[in-house]
Parts: sequence; C-alpha cells; structure tokens
Amino acid sequence: MRKVQITGWGMSVPEKVMTNAEIEKLVDTSDEWIKSRSGISERRICGDEESVATMAIEAGKRAIERARIDPAEIDLVILATLTDARLLPSTAAYVQEGVGARRAGAFDLDCACTGFIAGLGVAAQFIATGAMQKILVIGADAVSRILDWTDRGTCVLFGDGAGAVVVEAGDEGIPLSLYLRNDGSAANALTVPSPMGVRSELPANREFVITMDGPAIFRFAVEAMVDAAREVCDRSGIALDDFDLVIPHQANLRIIQAAARALKVPMDKVYTNVERYGNTSGGSIPLALAEAVDAGRIKKGDRILLVGFGAGMSWGALTLEWTAETASARLSEIPLAAATA
Ligand code: COA
Repeated sequence: MRKVQITGWGMSVPEKVMTNAEIEKLVDTSDEWIKSRSGISERRICGDEESVATMAIEAGKRAIERARIDPAEIDLVILATLTDARLLPSTAAYVQEGVGARRAGAFDLDCACTGFIAGLGVAAQFIATGAMQKILVIGADAVSRILDWTDRGTCVLFGDGAGAVVVEAGDEGIPLSLYLRNDGSAANALTVPSPMGVRSELPANREFVITMDGPAIFRFAVEAMVDAAREVCDRSGIALDDFDLVIPHQANLRIIQAAARALKVPMDKVYTNVERYGNTSGGSIPLALAEAVDAGRIKKGDRILLVGFGAGMSWGALTLEWTAETASARLSEIPLAAATA
C-alpha cells in the first residue's frame, strides 16, 4: 500500500464577523454566558452572495496553489458538507468546476462534523490502492443558513467556514490511520428536517433548521473524542504522547478541554480557534489544520492527530505525519470565486 501525504492546504471564511454582542440583540443571552459555556467570542457569517460553494472553492484553490499542481491533475473532489448550496446537484459539482479540476470526479459526503475525517479517510484509500493519484478533500459548511436565530440554545454556537487539503501518494511519514464510528440510536440528538422527509415530520412553518439536545451532546462528545483518540493511537501503534499537535473538532472549548484532561494531553498541544469561528461543522477541522500550518504551529515531521464528532451521532479520528515544507509556502491572495451556487 502506498503512503498518503498532504501536499496542499487552504482555508476560507466569510468576511462578515458576528460578535456575541450582536447575538445579544437577537436572543436572550450574554457575551459572558456564551464565552463561559462555549469559549466562543465571534463567528463568521456568509453574506448574500456567499455559500458553502464559494467558501469551498476558495479554500480548494488555495490548497491547489500550495500543492503546486495543475487543477487538471486532480482525480477526485470530495466535499464534506451538510449545508449543500442546492439539493441537486451535489455542491462538489460546482466546486469541481470552480477550482478547474476538469478531469476529476466529484461527490459530496455527509458525515456532519466528522465529515472531513471521513472524507480524508476515503481519499486515503483511493491513493493507497493506487486507484487515484491526487485528490482534493474539502470540509465546508454554511451552518448560519440552517440556524433558528430565535433559538438561543443553538444560534450562539455555530459559524460558517471551509478548509481544504490536496492529498497525494508519497514515501515520507507514517501511514495514515483512521478510526470511524457511528451510533444511530442517538441520531435524533442533532437534526435538521428535510422537505423530502416523512410528511408528518415536516415543520409546520417549513423552516428547516437545527434542533439539538445540547447537554446530551456535550456528554457524548467528551466520551467520543476520548474513545476516538485512544483507538486511533492503538491502530497507528504510536502513543498519544508522541503526537505533536491534536486538532479537535471546534464545537465548544469546554468539550475540548474536558477531552484533553481525560486524555492527559496538555492544552498547549491542542489547537483551538473556536473562540474566533464557533462550530463550522465540516469546515471546522480542516480550517483549524490550515490555520495551524499558517500560524507556524505545524512543521515538517510533526505527527498530527485529528479527532471529531458530530450528528449521526458520528465520531472518529485520523493520524498523519506532516510531510510538506511549510516555511516556503506563501499564500498569494486569490479573490473569492464568483458565486456559482
Ligand atoms: N444564553 C443563556 N442561557 C442559555 C443559552 C444562551 N445562549 N442557551 C441555553 N441557555 C440556558 C438553558 O435554557 C438552560 O436553562 P435552564 O437551566 O433554566 O433550563 C441553561 O442555559 C443550560 O445551562 P447549562 O446546563 O449550564 O448548559 P451547558 O453547560 O450544557 O451548555 C451548551 C449548553 C449548549 C453550550 C452545551 O451543552 C454544548 O455545547 N453542548 C454541545 C453542543 C454541540 O457541540 N453541538 C454540535 C455538535 S457537532
């Protein structure tokens, strides 16, 4: 089996910043409550001309530029998202066109906030078997579009964003290890109805927004992250202490801290940006990964553990070694792609 390496990375968030003070004007909450319960100070929100597709295209273009490849070399575009710009076609179809991957296949993958880990795991199989050579994996969500802005239990926690990587075969580093689980018996803890669902379950107001059992998910999330981190370490044969950086799903700082405490991982080995972006769902882990590289928190040879959870209820982890040169990679400003969906 061939090894799998990340050769390009990129992120994209909308320009519009929404602070806790702005949310205070919409629902009965406070900056103090949001910060103390979740660690979140602000989040980004898509403007009228932005969508999951525009963010995914921008993050994807940046990853392709960093990988220094021609987009026509890409064999497959995998977009992990739950906030499709349209129900048909897949948003990946717009992204394939938007990044110029004209020889690629493309599909969306819905594994909620665990989607990027699942997508990278799927891509790794195609690369490892030799079926494909270069794959663009993107995690992106515009969760603001499915929020009930009158529900203080959910609207304070989420934001919009995207991250992307290019993966290719290579000789360096440790083999990528994946652990992926789902417990469908808890599937109703976090849902968004669909117009195609059972008629008796359609919301009377036809608003298709998130409903969530926050405290139940909190308990699940800590256990799930601990389980996934331990299991993926077993699979990779590398002790948790020997990882240089853990990049968790950025849902809530307290969930991250509780899982780190249980795993005895010091917080200086855990990357967080939830305070600035909130929970960007599928975008969360790749956005944090790309930002960590650009912030100099990841260098060649570092061992990285990605760990996440989400609706489903799904959870998983993935380990890899960072093999790309980071110092020489300078991000040129690529203008946001014209809205395609
Ligand atoms: N502002 C003020 N009060 C709020 C509030 C808000 N934005 N949202 C909820 N509350 C209230 C509730 O109504 C409840 O009041 P009650 O006790 O009078 O019924 C109380 O706060 C709940 O407080 P607490 O039990 O301390 O909440 P918590 O510590 O569990 O924090 C969450 C609530 C939602 C922040 C937390 O449970 C959480 O983050 N869960 C995980 C959610 C998640 O990550 N979902 C996405 C998964 S991918």
